Amino acid sequence: MSKTKKSPSAPFLWGASSSAHQIEGGTFNQWTVWEKNNAAVLAEQAKYLGRQYPDFKRLRPYITKPENYISGRLADHYNRYEADFDILEQLGLNAFRFSIEWSRIQPASEHDWEDEAVDHYRRYLQSLKKRGITPVVTLWHFTHPVWFEAKGAFEQRRNIRYFVRYVQRLMQELGEDIEYVVPINEPDTYALESYARVEWPAPHPTRLNGLKVYWNLLAAHRQVYRLLKQQRGQHYQVGFNKGYAYYYTADGAWNSRLAAWGAYLLADDLVMALLRRQYDYVAVNYYFAVRLRGFRVNNPPNEPLSDMGWGMQPQYLAPVLVRLYRRCKKPILVTETGVADVDDKYRKWWITENLKALSAARKQGVKLIGYMHWALLDNFEWAHGRWPCFGLVAVNYATLKRTIRPSAKWYAAAIAYFRHRHP
Ligand code: BGC
Repeated sequence: MSKTKKSPSAPFLWGASSSAHQIEGGTFNQWTVWEKNNAAVLAEQAKYLGRQYPDFKRLRPYITKPENYISGRLADHYNRYEADFDILEQLGLNAFRFSIEWSRIQPASEHDWEDEAVDHYRRYLQSLKKRGITPVVTLWHFTHPVWFEAKGAFEQRRNIRYFVRYVQRLMQELGEDIEYVVPINEPDTYALESYARVEWPAPHPTRLNGLKVYWNLLAAHRQVYRLLKQQRGQHYQVGFNKGYAYYYTADGAWNSRLAAWGAYLLADDLVMALLRRQYDYVAVNYYFAVRLRGFRVNNPPNEPLSDMGWGMQPQYLAPVLVRLYRRCKKPILVTETGVADVDDKYRKWWITENLKALSAARKQGVKLIGYMHWALLDNFEWAHGRWPCFGLVAVNYATLKRTIRPSAKWYAAAIAYFRHRHP
């Protein structure tokens, strides 16, 4: 493992993304508890709320069943990771983003340490290394042990130490094989979903706690950054991750422009400025564009929607990257972007538009480390449950059979083409 910063000629990372709770199966954390307590209500609500999905009729039988909202075995990636890594290789990917599940390592208390779970992730990392696949490791992707939730999780500033101590020991054990780290996945989304919308688990969901949690997650990021920079002669590249949207105006009017400026300021610019010395690269998750008319959201009518009813604007990844790079002057790794698309109708187009966006951004001087599509496998989409299909690879949850979608083959061909042009 190199002890210095990546050289500019390091190979571009072409990858796919995932997170433990969404694909591993058999986890026991605050989410699994919440799922069990809420599955029946979510299934009942889906009869009404499900109408937001473009294909409600077709989805109705799935989303109105409580089982949809229980993660359970999922793709059983925990036991089948070798087969999934074979697929990464088959697609020609040289990078994989995943998260290490804290609740497997300290399931019962902060004094716990499950060597078997650590060994599992050691073997996991070794297997990637053997295949020449660069790991991008997330340390917290929305899930944590039940005892941590009971202590108030990130609502309490003093609880950050449990996470940091865990990370310290974990990285002493596994850090040798890790270069790219994402300490916290989308602190903004967690604060919003768990505390403002109250649609995800939280110990005490109030808006004020949401602000505290966001603040504390930023503090946790900062502490992990410092810790990693002190360990092992700085070989880690630590990324700051959040969701980035593209804000634009419907009409160019002064109030719409002011609204877009304000949205960027509050969503991105303040936090990026606050943390500016505590990340080596920006870890970008991009899913949305938001069109503003005056101070209102005014997305184009009749635009095509993904299975989840989200507008699809993969091309706006370019201005997002350019804007961020101009402000932060740090290299960018696209750690997530993708679309819920069970029929694989839009994914090929989505990837193509993303690739064009990467080229456009590069031409405008943006330094890019890599691109990781969300997701490698169909996965558990949090409060929506199992039905949304984000995978390059489809998973049959009954048989666990993996099927590579045509768009994934297209992605593989595009990567091969780029490698040929820029060896
Ligand atoms: C999250 C993923 C999620 C994806 C699609 C991102 O905000 O990091 O866990 O599955 O969006 O909604």
